[in-house]
Amino acid sequence: MSNIYQPTAANLQKAAETIKNGGLVAFPTDTVYGLGANVYNAAAVAGIFKAKERPLFDPLISHIADIDFLPEYAVTDSRAMDLARRFWPGPLTFVLNRKDDNPAIDLACAGLKSLAVRMPDHPVALELIRQSGVPIVAPSANRFKTVSPTTAAHVRDSLGDKVNMILDGGACTIGVETTIIDLTGKNIVILRAGGLSKEALEDFTGEKILLNETSSSQPKAPGQLLKHYAPSLPLRINVAEDDVRDDEFFIAFGKVSRPANLNLSEKGDLCEAASHLFAYLREAEKHTEYKGIAMSPVPQDGLGLAINDRIRRASYRE
Ligand code: TXA
Ligand code: MG
Repeated sequence: MSNIYQPTAANLQKAAETIKNGGLVAFPTDTVYGLGANVYNAAAVAGIFKAKERPLFDPLISHIADIDFLPEYAVTDSRAMDLARRFWPGPLTFVLNRKDDNPAIDLACAGLKSLAVRMPDHPVALELIRQSGVPIVAPSANRFKTVSPTTAAHVRDSLGDKVNMILDGGACTIGVETTIIDLTGKNIVILRAGGLSKEALEDFTGEKILLNETSSSQPKAPGQLLKHYAPSLPLRINVAEDDVRDDEFFIAFGKVSRPANLNLSEKGDLCEAASHLFAYLREAEKHTEYKGIAMSPVPQDGLGLAINDRIRRASYRE
């Protein structure tokens, strides 16, 4: 049995319902196939990381279908809007500051204050996003450390059993990922080279575009990233419930006897825990009547790897 679907009107409608209801749909774009989920459904976003078997929560790109929606979703200026009008839809992703402060998208943004957004040039992708009525976050639809998929069959071979539907839009025309540019600073910086050339960007903007030699997912100075994830209250991790101090905000995992302020997942479900993680850290740091945050141990398997990576960073103190 195959879960590859032709993009008929009925199948697109079914795919949009699947996205709305928190499922995963792989879909074609101009660059590579994406593994899509509703950005506002943190459990679905956690499902992406689980399916990809990614040991880190890398921030994901939101896919939108309408340039006019961009200023509602992110902090824009005329430079960003001009670039969008010139190059969207197309193989160019923007990193902009978040406007939508909805904690539900924290996991998609890996806790960053910025977000990545693009408008793909593919009729199936655009129709899916429109009918879903939400931005669709999608990394490339391959397992961690395998090559990016450019046909529906590649997706099936890599992730077939992990997605609800794979929409078949033929082979991707560009075949490499988008160029990602950081628009949050004075200069435009290419974070990842991809389907749109630096020259094309320079011709249009008349500015020198800078290249970031380090990949955005493997920053050269991890200390920089470590800071991003640190809540304002000190966080202790792997704390047994008997060792939680009275002046600590207790975030539990699984069954505990001591009353917890919050529980990542009472039933010990790592996917559920991932979906709560960033929102709970945000909630905890608001409680300044506590001296710190204590968190239960989280098992080091499946999504636990990514959760532990993030909380290790969040607990890091200089
Ligand atoms: O062509 C593409 O861009 C494909 C298709 C499916 O759209 N998507 C894709 O997604 O390549 P992914 O998850 O494989 O790569 C997204 C990259 C990651 O390297 C991530 O670190 C970076 O985008 N990224 C996302 N949000 C970011 C942010 N706020 N700041 C810096 N980098 C960000
Ligand atoms: Mg990728």
